[in-house]
Amino acid sequence: MARLVVQGGKPLQGSIPACGAKNAALPIIAASILARGEVVLERVPDISDVWVMSDILRAIGVKVEFEGKARMLLDSSKILTTTAPDELVRKMNASFDVAGPLLACYGEARVSLPGGCRLGPRPVDLHLEGFRKLGAEILSEGGFAHVRAAGRLQGAHIRFPKVSVGATKNCLMAATMAEGVTMLENCAREPEIGDLADFLVKMGASIEGIGTSRLRIHGVERLHGATHTIVADRIETGTYLIGGALTGGDVTLTECEPEHVAALLDHLREAGQEVTVGDRWVRVRGGRPIRALDVSTAPYPGFPTDLHPQLVSLLCLAEGTSTLQENIFSGRFMYVMELVRLGAKVKAEDRHVVVKGVNKLSGAPVDAPDIRAGGGLVLAALVAEGETVISGVEFVDRGYQDLEQRLSALGAEIERVQGPLPQVA
Ligand code: EPZ
Repeated sequence: MARLVVQGGKPLQGSIPACGAKNAALPIIAASILARGEVVLERVPDISDVWVMSDILRAIGVKVEFEGKARMLLDSSKILTTTAPDELVRKMNASFDVAGPLLACYGEARVSLPGGCRLGPRPVDLHLEGFRKLGAEILSEGGFAHVRAAGRLQGAHIRFPKVSVGATKNCLMAATMAEGVTMLENCAREPEIGDLADFLVKMGASIEGIGTSRLRIHGVERLHGATHTIVADRIETGTYLIGGALTGGDVTLTECEPEHVAALLDHLREAGQEVTVGDRWVRVRGGRPIRALDVSTAPYPGFPTDLHPQLVSLLCLAEGTSTLQENIFSGRFMYVMELVRLGAKVKAEDRHVVVKGVNKLSGAPVDAPDIRAGGGLVLAALVAEGETVISGVEFVDRGYQDLEQRLSALGAEIERVQGPLPQVA
């Protein structure tokens, strides 16, 4: 059983390049099912969610090869089945991204309801309602979502009742090959959706309104292969920048998109930290008193739910009391009790987190319950006095490439230890 062992108290200093975005790579890999021809993806993050998605596509019949650490070659010319393997799909919520492409290209998709992070219910009703409006029949939606279209999907007008990244991605991918025009309204505007849309256009799709909440898609009969570089990961970028502030260090992320972390940078400035922004880099210097904040998560361009645990780790050492209102996921609070083990004064009631700042955190054994909670606990461990042992590393590895190597390059004392936990004497 792997775990991370962190000796706290070392400020993060230095500069690292951002990796490719997990939440762009996963739908783009799924979208390659639509291509008649080879797809080449650059800057693919080397994380376990990418390996799971690759195995799902291989099981469907897509040829998937990796060249080095960050280049991926995909060929979907010989699909074997429109059923995604249940045991893989249940590992990751984004597995459901294969449904739209399979339905668009082959008129059918059978994908088990996804698993993944325990953030509360992860329904797919908005995805299925969109497929139905595009002309698909929903044969079952129990353990498996089984959707089928008699012929080609038909363009439709879909207005999402709530903003959903997943439903926006799946309906966008399905609509690219529907007959006629599809209007999608109240779409999620996360940069990862923009990157997916840019990739689909490179494959020959016709999409207007990219980056806005209204997407207009003119369906085409075929999509061809393309080459695409994955957009920088704004959540990974934000995690390291918060680490620079929290540890009183000086961290620069290069090859990133400052605009994509604007909401975080506003909060870091509000918290009294020094933030400098360049063309494709951001620098955060800590070492100043951390001011308490009142934060709410929201769909992009609001403050992202995926940086919620990481920002709370910062606020544990703020002067005064901070609050965070979590408006996206109802189950994102398992990390709170782990922070309490480190000496934080934090509690969560009904999506509302209250953090009373303390002078210091102290190392202790903690357990990461999901990807972003894992990021937050690693940050807290970096500033806690003494040793912190973090289990649940399999979650961290889903979303952060080479975490301990990259943190070590910034001066952290962190190592990965395998094997059983030492017996308590
Ligand atoms: C994506 O999840 C991301 N995952 C999440 O990141 C991210 O937190 C989330 O978007 C919000 O930004 C990937 O991109 C792989 P949603 P997704 O559909 O698509 C409800 C990470 O750590 N909903 O925008 O599942 C849903 O329950 C992960 O990288 C429905 O009700 O998010 C939630 O309350 C964690 N019906 C809200 O909408 C549906 O059919 C937002 O979900 C779909 C969603």
